[in-house]
This record gives sequence, structure tokens and C-alpha cells, in this order.
Amino acid sequence: MAQEDRVRWDQRYETAVLEAMPGPITPPSKFGDHVDLFPTTGFALELACGSGGTSVWLALRGLKVHGVDISGTAIGLAKKLAAENAVSSSCRFDVVDLDRGLPEGPQADLVVCHLFRDVRLYPQMVQRLTPGGLLAVAVLSEVDAKPGPFRAMAGELTDAFGHLEILEAGEGDGHAWILARGIETA
Ligand SMILES: C[S@@+](CC[C@H](N)C(=O)[O-])C[C@H]1O[C@@H](n2cnc3c(N)ncnc32)[C@H](O)[C@@H]1O
Repeated sequence: MAQEDRVRWDQRYETAVLEAMPGPITPPSKFGDHVDLFPTTGFALELACGSGGTSVWLALRGLKVHGVDISGTAIGLAKKLAAENAVSSSCRFDVVDLDRGLPEGPQADLVVCHLFRDVRLYPQMVQRLTPGGLLAVAVLSEVDAKPGPFRAMAGELTDAFGHLEILEAGEGDGHAWILARGIETA
């Protein structure tokens, strides 16, 4: 499955190069109204970072960033975007198959996962957060949309992350999202 995903996403990003590069450097679109909650220092891990628009935005904001994605094409674009914006020294991008879990790395002040869903990763995302660190997750949802294999059921994110300090959460129009702070664990 992961190999099929890799080929499919590589093809999409190759088309994107022709149509729309360089990509936009933006906060994750589902969190555009809550940009002030995102840190300006520390270390961020971005899962399924795609062509790097969010990671580079975070680096320009002042963070050190590790972005990972299964698509080598996307990772190549992300590295190029970082170089074009003079933040290569703040960014590391790697091809990683998240079907195998999160990559090794330090605790993160920010874990972002935007429009990629793998429920098996939810506990690992929480473990990777520093106490007080920000978790930002947005997924496709069945709420206001037809059920589908990649979509979260109603309440999935609040069920998975409700033990954190929830700052914002919502569902609707086929999406679900949550912003939550890591808590001290014993
Ligand atoms: C809808 S895109 C979202 C990209 C980016 N986060 C954004 O919001 O623009 C989904 C991303 O998940 C990546 N992806 C799919 N399966 C993956 C896997 N098993 N491991 C890592 N990344 C994966 C794809 O390459 C693609 O970049």
C-alpha cells in the first residue's frame, strides 16, 4: 500500500510542479484563524509535509523544522522551497513512510499533521510532544461528507486527544481539526 501511495503522490507532485510551483508558503489552511497559537521558537515535526509550504512557513517564523513525507518528489520540492527562502539551515526534510511509525527524533514543541490521517500515529504524536507543546491535526472527516476510507468518524480527534488541553476543535464540511497542548506525564 505504501509503495502505491508513494507512486501516486509522486505523480501528483510532479504535475504540481508543472502547474503551480513554487507552492504557497502558508500556515496549514485549517488553522489559518489560529496562527497566533503556533510557536515562534523551538522544534517542529511536520508529518506528511508535502511540498513544504507549512514547514517553510514555520521556519520563517523562527522554528527548526523536520518535515517528512513518503513522496520523494514532494521532499525535493520542499528542500527547494526552503533554499529559495533562505531557511535551509532551519529545515530538515526526509522521505519517510509513516506506515512504519514516526521517525526517530527529539521531543517537539509543535507536531503538525495536516490532511494526512493514520489513527495508529495518534498516540505517537502525543508522546512526541513536549509538555505545553502544540499539537495541530486536521483530517478529512465523514461529518457533512460521504463516508470514505480516509475519513475520520465523528468525534475521532476529540476521542484521541481529549486528554490533552484542547484549545480549539471542530468538525464540519468534510473536515475535522484540533489544536491541543501537551500535558505533563508522570
Ligand atoms: C493531502 S496531502 C497533504 C500534504 C500537506 N500536509 C498539506 O496539507 O498540504 C497528503 C500527503 O500525505 C503523504 N503521504 C501519503 N501516505 C504517506 C505515508 N505512508 N507516509 C508519509 N507520507 C504519506 C502524501 O505524499 C501527501 O504529501
